[in-house]
Amino acid sequence: MTTWRRQCRSTAVPPKPKRGGRPATDVRYQIRPAQPADVAAVCAIEGAVFSDPWSARDFRECAASGVPFLIAEHGGVVAGYAIAHHAADEGEILNLGVAPAHQRRGVGRVLVEHLLTLLAERGVDAVFLEVRESNAAARGLYQRLGFREVGRRPGYYRRPVEDAVILRSAVSAETRRA
Ligand SMILES: CC(C)(COP(=O)(O)OP(=O)(O)OC[C@H]1O[C@@H](n2cnc3c(N)ncnc32)[C@H](O)[C@@H]1OP(=O)(O)O)[C@@H](O)C(=O)NCCC(=O)NCCS
Repeated sequence: MTTWRRQCRSTAVPPKPKRGGRPATDVRYQIRPAQPADVAAVCAIEGAVFSDPWSARDFRECAASGVPFLIAEHGGVVAGYAIAHHAADEGEILNLGVAPAHQRRGVGRVLVEHLLTLLAERGVDAVFLEVRESNAAARGLYQRLGFREVGRRPGYYRRPVEDAVILRSAVSAETRRA
């Protein structure tokens, strides 16, 4: 199987509450496992949000390999995706993307929360990921979800070359179900 350069490397989701108590949006998102038929839509989002996107082949391999690969869908349209893998008690988030039109509606947060629940239920107790140093949106999201910096990989990313910040969060099936 390909070694993926990490980009971060179901259920009805209620709209995210806005400060002041009103929902951020009236749309609803469904989180479900990815199917091979989702790959084209996922690739389109990937190309829109990453400067060094994964290929369709990368996503096809993930879909075929049985790793946790989740889709956020609204009205039949793929709005975002999240992919992880795990070995023994460690998990890693490999990729996460939300289409620009659906950003800041809580989709990324809910995708990651579902991934963490899935990983915890498979016996994972610590989840790692890498994120571009300059990616304030993703770093803000992961910080809110309890991830903390545990290291760096100088020059890890390409196009443009940039350091990766390594983040870690402890997870447990009990706390995630709560
Ligand atoms: C990072 C990304 C997945 C976030 O998805 P999203 O659905 O827009 O995020 P959410 O609406 O769930 O936001 C959750 C929190 O993340 C943080 N956040 C999200 N986008 C942000 C932004 N543009 N600037 C600052 N903080 C941001 C905020 O803390 C936010 O909470 P708030 O809206 O209550 O302030 C999305 O911006 C994206 O696809 N970016 C390009 C790809 C990428 O960077 N993937 C991650 C690689 S590790």
